[in-house]
Amino acid sequence: MLAELDLLQSEALAAVTAAADAPALEAARVKYLGRQGALASFGEKMRAVPKEERPAAGKRLNEARSAITAAFDAAAPALAGRAEADALAAVDVTLPGTPMLPVGALHPLTQLQDRAVQIFRRLGFALADGPDVEDEWHCFDALNTPPDHPARNEQDTFYLPDGRLLRTHTSTVQIRVMETQPPPVRVIAPGAAYRRDEVDATHLAQFNQMEGLVVDQGVTLGDMKGTLEFFFSELFGPGTAVRFRPHFFPFTEPSFEVDVKTPALRGGERWLEICGCGMVDPAVYAAVNARRGDGAYDAEVVSGYAFGFGLERLAMTLLGLPDIRLLVENDVRFLEQFR
Ligand code: PHE
Repeated sequence: MLAELDLLQSEALAAVTAAADAPALEAARVKYLGRQGALASFGEKMRAVPKEERPAAGKRLNEARSAITAAFDAAAPALAGRAEADALAAVDVTLPGTPMLPVGALHPLTQLQDRAVQIFRRLGFALADGPDVEDEWHCFDALNTPPDHPARNEQDTFYLPDGRLLRTHTSTVQIRVMETQPPPVRVIAPGAAYRRDEVDATHLAQFNQMEGLVVDQGVTLGDMKGTLEFFFSELFGPGTAVRFRPHFFPFTEPSFEVDVKTPALRGGERWLEICGCGMVDPAVYAAVNARRGDGAYDAEVVSGYAFGFGLERLAMTLLGLPDIRLLVENDVRFLEQFR
């Protein structure tokens, strides 16, 4: 019996040493220490041992169980650790990392609009907004544009079945601002405008404008010229020349087109027409007052100017784009150049 236990113990300890991984160790543990295992069967055999030998045999059995249990317990953590180390060894930490998702950039038109807004903010302009879907009154009537004006032609404008339309210019925001706030007013309104133009290299049916409106006591044509000259010089940089050419808009009197000549623009020495402007026509104040039901915009007391320009045209000349459609096709190869 004692010799058998000696043999069993050395076998079990050898099995522990031989176990190459955690599952092998567990199988050996079940074989020797399990409920149906080798040591358990010695409990049965104990009964056959003569009474006087039993204490010594029992002691030896306990010793064997402790020694074997201790050996298994000692081996387990090392094998578990090795499993982890093997798993980690399969990872090559010197390989280059997985690149992050590519970081995007603002669209060139957005960049241009942001720059323009920043310059006007420095001049004390606030941002104003209005709906893209407008009524004829805000788009035309209030802006002194008579019913027979070509801009109101169904061939030129997108009308909805209910008679509303997609605004043909951001000048609608002039009216909306004056409707809701008395003078002084000093706002810019960037946003989309729509015209029923055949889409080609220089026309889109939807484009972006930036409108400006200043109304206060004593505002003069000189203020408008100074503001726009400053704005375009800031936008285009040193060496920029700005000129005002008489023009006609129904809602301003007098009206002008603004031309810019600057080394920053492609074709450097040419005058480029980029902006419409003028002193707000008293007829516009009258329309606004009628809506408001007061005389807040009294043409005898206040005066003001308005201006508006298209962002796509500006972007095309600034960036030297041959085709306006590049700005709306969202081709990453094109956009990537302007990060
Ligand atoms: N609304 C005019 C256009 O779309 C531009 C403009 C705005 C002209 C304000 C004068 C004053 O062409």
